Amino acid sequence: MIAIYPGSFDPITLGHLDIIERGSQLFSQVIVAVLRNPNKTPLFTVQQRLEQIRQSTTHLDNVEIDAFEGLTVEYATRSKAKVLLRGLRAISDFEVELQMAHTNKTLSTEIETVFLATSNEYSFLSSSVVKEIARFGGSINHLVPPHVALDTYKCFTHNQTVSNPIRTDTTEVNPLNSSPSNREM
Ligand code: PNS
Repeated sequence: MIAIYPGSFDPITLGHLDIIERGSQLFSQVIVAVLRNPNKTPLFTVQQRLEQIRQSTTHLDNVEIDAFEGLTVEYATRSKAKVLLRGLRAISDFEVELQMAHTNKTLSTEIETVFLATSNEYSFLSSSVVKEIARFGGSINHLVPPHVALDTYKCFTHNQTVSNPIRTDTTEVNPLNSSPSNREM
């Protein structure tokens, strides 16, 4: 059974990746579908987001990456998918997600929404949180894959590579240690 994992992914976080990895164990194929949303001004272009997701999921054989516009259920029907996969972090997500699932059900009775509870360690995590932390010079190395952290820091001109204060296994960007001249003013 094919599942669509639709979203903005601006940028992809470790929370999204957790849902993709777990979804890929449950479905024969998971299509991570980035919405081209003319109503939003994203930090990253659709092309950049597709590349970020592609690089994050190279270890998953049954995961595909795509972009779409318009209604998710129509894209799902075109893709022969029966399931929309969504992550649930907290009660606050539930209201919005339930409304979306009900709306989608009115648009297509063929497609089911399946929710996965986000793993505990990512229950607070969102793309917005990542962007806010990076904007004010905090470390996001524990929240997104390393290449996404680099891309995000570049957007906010925190582009010095120094050691990560949280993880000791890799050398990544930590804007907290960057010189004032490299920080966003
Ligand atoms: O990552 P996001 O921004 O929470 O994802 C929201 C998304 C893209 C899944 C949702 O906005 C969506 O499906 N948009 C496409 C338009 C659509 O199908 N609307 C009807 C359902 S509300």
